[in-house]
Amino acid sequence: MDIKTNFMGHVINSPLIVGSCVLTSNISTLIDIEKAGAGAVILKSLFEEQITQEMNVNIKVNSDNFRGYPEAYNYIQEHIRDRAIDNYISLVKEAKQALTIPVIASINCITVSEWLPFIKQIEMAGADGIELNVFIFPSDINLSNDDIERLYNEIIQVAKRATSLPISLKISPYFSNPTRFAQKVSWLGISNLSIFNRFYQSDIDIDNFTTKPVNITSSHDEIYNTIRWTAVISPQIRCTLTAGNGVHREDDVIKLLLAGASTVQVVSVLYKEGLEFITKANERLKKWMEEKEYSSIKDFKGKLAIKNNKEASAFYRINFMKYYSGIK
Ligand SMILES: Cc1cc2nc3c(=O)[nH]c(=O)nc-3n(C[C@H](O)[C@H](O)[C@H](O)COP(=O)(O)O)c2cc1C
Repeated sequence: MDIKTNFMGHVINSPLIVGSCVLTSNISTLIDIEKAGAGAVILKSLFEEQITQEMNVNIKVNSDNFRGYPEAYNYIQEHIRDRAIDNYISLVKEAKQALTIPVIASINCITVSEWLPFIKQIEMAGADGIELNVFIFPSDINLSNDDIERLYNEIIQVAKRATSLPISLKISPYFSNPTRFAQKVSWLGISNLSIFNRFYQSDIDIDNFTTKPVNITSSHDEIYNTIRWTAVISPQIRCTLTAGNGVHREDDVIKLLLAGASTVQVVSVLYKEGLEFITKANERLKKWMEEKEYSSIKDFKGKLAIKNNKEASAFYRINFMKYYSGIK
């Protein structure tokens, strides 16, 4: 049974991709991920904030020592930045040496510039592609929707000019019109769109008047939002689609392929159930294809996307009106 699929210019042996997380920053875990049957890996992100914060902390601590010596000060700043980059470049090189599946580097970007100089270095280190994990937090009252979307466009355009590697864009669901946005960015020449990223969430501690992190990993309930948007967005874009966020059951992989994804990204389930999930999900997919008499993924991919099946119009339904009217 052939479960090969296309991803960022590569034909990969399984649609299961391990998304960017701490697991993908460790070489021995990466080897186990490949052994478990993943089609590709996205390395832990190099965070733009991580570099600038590291620089700022050192600037605060040390700037007094450099009064009158701006060149020395700049040199130190660059050294600090290079260390974060050097570590990341080593990760890319070691991962490439250890694995045969595609190794995709990941950069978290919030501006158009800070991360740009590293992109060529990542290419030279041998990465098979770059995922840009972009999120412009829409809290600035002065930024319009257009301003924010323009920033995404600029990020993609400068990245494309800086590297010949295939680019995947990983986005959140927080757009006024995610479908229109997805279509527009797909026209900019990205090779893959990845939906959806997951964010750090905070709760309020009512006794201590503080905040605390919650839900670090996803839950299965989140899959339904991903299924809906995969079915809605997949027929509208000019690149492949990776779907993820909330994949916790083997059948979720099949559902997302039916909704039009070419690949499925998993993270939280691997923390909860271990890497065997990848092996089990591949087996389940093959068994299901055999039962349904499909010989390859392309035979059923997108069968439940909104353009291809009237059953899929349910994904447009957002109110419970009819459902509740039958409940006494
Ligand atoms: C512990 C942890 C670390 C993560 N680190 C990153 C990261 O560095 N870069 C990134 O793009 N996404 C990161 N993510 C988000 C995941 O790649 C993924 O998009 C998200 O968890 C949704 O998929 P899931 O439901 O399978 O977990 C992280 C997620 C977790 C749980």
